[in-house]
Amino acid sequence: MSKQFDLVVIGAGPGGYIAAIRASQLGLNVACIDEWKNVDGSPAPGGTCTNVGCIPSKALLQSSEHFDLANHHFDEHGIVVSNVSLNLKKLISRKNSVVKQNNEGILYLFKKNKVSFFHGLASFVEKNKDYITIKVSSLNEELLAKNVIVATGSSAREYPGLKFDEKTVLSNDGALNIENVPKTLGVIGAGVIGLEMGSVWRRLGSDVTILEAMPDFLMAADSQISKEALKVLTKQGLNIKVGVDIIEVKNIGKSVSIKYKDKDASVKDLLVDKIIISIGRVPRTDGLNASAVGLNIDERGFIVVDDNCKTNLSNVWAVGDVVRGPMLAHKAEEEGVAVAERIVGQHGHVNFNTIPSVIYTSPEIAWVGKNEQQLKQEGRQYKAGSFPFLANGRARALGDTTGFVKIIADAVTDEVLGVHIIGPMASELISEAVTIMEFKGAAEDIARICHAHPTLSESMKEAALAVDKRSLNY
Ligand code: FAD
Ligand code: NAI
Repeated sequence: MSKQFDLVVIGAGPGGYIAAIRASQLGLNVACIDEWKNVDGSPAPGGTCTNVGCIPSKALLQSSEHFDLANHHFDEHGIVVSNVSLNLKKLISRKNSVVKQNNEGILYLFKKNKVSFFHGLASFVEKNKDYITIKVSSLNEELLAKNVIVATGSSAREYPGLKFDEKTVLSNDGALNIENVPKTLGVIGAGVIGLEMGSVWRRLGSDVTILEAMPDFLMAADSQISKEALKVLTKQGLNIKVGVDIIEVKNIGKSVSIKYKDKDASVKDLLVDKIIISIGRVPRTDGLNASAVGLNIDERGFIVVDDNCKTNLSNVWAVGDVVRGPMLAHKAEEEGVAVAERIVGQHGHVNFNTIPSVIYTSPEIAWVGKNEQQLKQEGRQYKAGSFPFLANGRARALGDTTGFVKIIADAVTDEVLGVHIIGPMASELISEAVTIMEFKGAAEDIARICHAHPTLSESMKEAALAVDKRSLNY
């Protein structure tokens, strides 16, 4: 006996569950399989993003920011609080309940959209000209799929020779579940996870040292933004060292010893209570039995796809972290929707030039499109305008005036080529930039749009005016 589906989606992370819902909206008979489980064994759909990624990290960032504000900034507003203390158990349990709400939300959405959900590990069995056969670990019968989307995501990259034990040597998972605030915390990798999780634990009281191999800080961002970010985050107390060469990392039980060469080549020793390893993630295809159907996987472990997320096999697609491109939830979702639409013959499209990047530190950092370094390298003529939050009324009222908005436009056509923000709510402000760029708008377009006063978004308008050297408030 076997069940037949128009589409089987493997993985219920943002790539998979969104693809399943969209395909069902388009009239397909859809199943989605995911193996993630809660501690009690119940299904926990939502993937890395919901369970150990975007959602729990933002819950901890929010809670730790409240703690930081109560400790250091309420006073500026004339609010006197004394004996602020931390109930870490409650803080973590709040984070867990936020995650659970999201898991349950996805199960509800599956029901609402008539997506059949199967909880278990999916593996390929065989492929013939009509069907792909898939086994689910929890089922006796097999699933027969006319189409398959693989959305199996990624997992944390281990530091060579150093196993995650999630007690002392932590991946993103352990970093979200530390039981007592460590006195000292080491982080390897000053990327997105290093900065976000480093910020959480610093705010909660850890002495955090981040070791980064690259010669400069946040090299993917516009260099003006990176400079400002390094200055602000260092001032907050994050000890960030770039250009380090790690010689040895040893888990010595209750602590970790690190020997590294500093930027100036001097050898340093660091002893920390715990260490977070955040040196990137690796695509996940273990358990899929990809060779049974001849699915192409490259030497780095990514499923090989073309621009349309098509694999080497007819009717088999792959989206999200398990394929090339940025490892971001919204990128996975866009690909999932586009593939569902392509399966029914529509022209789903993902614009890689307008995928925003956000780092949820305080201040937040967000950008879309090209930065100055890239444009210089391309030899493209551009003009840039910036506006500091210091000159924005709403930012002053908030008491959060760090950072600026920078807009880069084509020197001749004025088309917006990139927008780079460091400052309060940058994650929300960047949406306007994405919209303008999606419509191939000009800086002048932003400058001529009426923005409510007083809002942070007026800084977007002012930066656009600054492109033409006619800021009104600076
Ligand atoms: P995943 O979310 O990894 O989901 C894959 C799913 O497939 C999992 O549930 C897994 O159990 C399941 N699976 C795998 N193999 C099988 C199998 N054989 N059978 C059945 N099920 C299987 N991105 C952002 O855009 N914004 C953020 O703020 C953000 N924060 C992050 C914070 C952290 C700490 C981390 C680690 C990541 C963060 N990301 C963020 C990245 C984001 O989580 C990923 O890009 C996103 O989850 C990728 O979605 P996906 O659907 O491709 O894979
Ligand atoms: P990352 O790619 O952002 O950063 C890894 C950093 O580690 C890089 O700066 C790299 O130079 C450094 N590194 C690598 N090897 C090293 C070594 N041996 N010694 C010292 N430094 C070393 O990866 P990260 O932070 O692990 O995050 C993984 C993925 O998760 C990212 O691709 C990101 O897209 C996603 N993510 C997104 C978030 C968001 O959108 N806000 C939040 C967290 C994660």
